[in-house]
Amino acid sequence: MTLTNAQYRLAARPVGLPTDSDWQYTEEPVAEAGDGEFRVQVDYLSLDPAMRTWMNAGRSYIAPVEIGAVMRAAGIGTVIDSRHPDFAVGQTVSGVFGVQRYAISNGSDVSVVDTGLAPAPVHLGALGISGITAYFGLLDVGKPLPGQTVVVSAAAGSVGSIVGQIARIKGCRVIGIAGGADKCKVLVDELGFDAAIDYKAEDVRARLRTHAPDGVDVFFDNVGGPVLEAVLARLARGARVVLSGAVSQYNTTQSPRGPANYMQLLVQRASMIGFVVFDYAARYPEAVTELAGWLRDGSLLARDHIVPGGIAQFPDALLKLFTGENTGKLILAL
Ligand SMILES: NC(=O)c1ccc[n+]([C@@H]2O[C@H](COP(=O)([O-])OP(=O)(O)OC[C@H]3O[C@@H](n4cnc5c(N)ncnc54)[C@H](OP(=O)(O)O)[C@@H]3O)[C@@H](O)[C@H]2O)c1
Repeated sequence: MTLTNAQYRLAARPVGLPTDSDWQYTEEPVAEAGDGEFRVQVDYLSLDPAMRTWMNAGRSYIAPVEIGAVMRAAGIGTVIDSRHPDFAVGQTVSGVFGVQRYAISNGSDVSVVDTGLAPAPVHLGALGISGITAYFGLLDVGKPLPGQTVVVSAAAGSVGSIVGQIARIKGCRVIGIAGGADKCKVLVDELGFDAAIDYKAEDVRARLRTHAPDGVDVFFDNVGGPVLEAVLARLARGARVVLSGAVSQYNTTQSPRGPANYMQLLVQRASMIGFVVFDYAARYPEAVTELAGWLRDGSLLARDHIVPGGIAQFPDALLKLFTGENTGKLILAL
């Protein structure tokens, strides 16, 4: 079967927010699958803030995307033909397929998705890397105890919304920080957070004094910048700050801003720990089993924000992560 691929390649390393000139749209024939390979039609693309960091040159936890290469992205798709013993036509699979309509795979780092457990997009969010990041980052690194106060930033986003719900399930008091009154309402009314702070309209330090009078025991930080500084000012003795990400700094054209008040870590005998979910790869099934159980019994809600319109929407859809237009897991439907 001759197929034509549609792809977005990295054309230039962005300065600030990615623009159209940083991308090259290409079309080309899809090669046939060789021995031990299969072809996937990509149905859903995962849009992740980290994609912005992969566009930069320099040392990181993963190699940068090369100029001219298809942009790296996780996705979920359907096997359309196969010469691989472990993958059959019609199976739903998850892997890093790139920003393209079709991918060829040898099966490495590809898993078959159980759509009986949850619809395919949920396997990119609550049962995918977001949920697994929330699970290990909070429980293994943050180590909250019942009754302790947990604060999470980008709380209405994919990772943050699950962090807050797990903390609530574990008996913690949960405060979410998010941009906008609507997101804050979702956190409290739908996801069961104890309180929410709108960092765009409210004084985060003052609101934390009200909502966390005894201090913050665990801060799961997704955004960095001024929000990180505000929460450091309110740490409890022995607090753990989990550095999951710093989305407020990913598009900065200056040196990223570090917290001026980092000495609060000393004062409060607190720790700040960097965390990369890939280090937990061998334990992913443990997280997925527990997250799926919570989804089944209704204690965990999975929110997806699916952008329709196909691959042409990719450059604009990615930007929604940085303007805060998404609530829950941002996904592009191809
Ligand atoms: N360490 C790991 O292994 C790992 C793995 C996966 C993800 N992550 C990190 O987890 C974080 C969340 O990722 P996600 O996929 O769940 O994305 P997300 O939270 O669904 O989307 C990003 C959110 O960031 C917020 N944001 C954007 N610019 C901001 C700014 N200048 N200041 C404050 N907030 C801002 C926006 O929400 P508002 O409307 O609230 O501003 C936006 O909705 C990212 O930092 C990502 O890199 C880490």
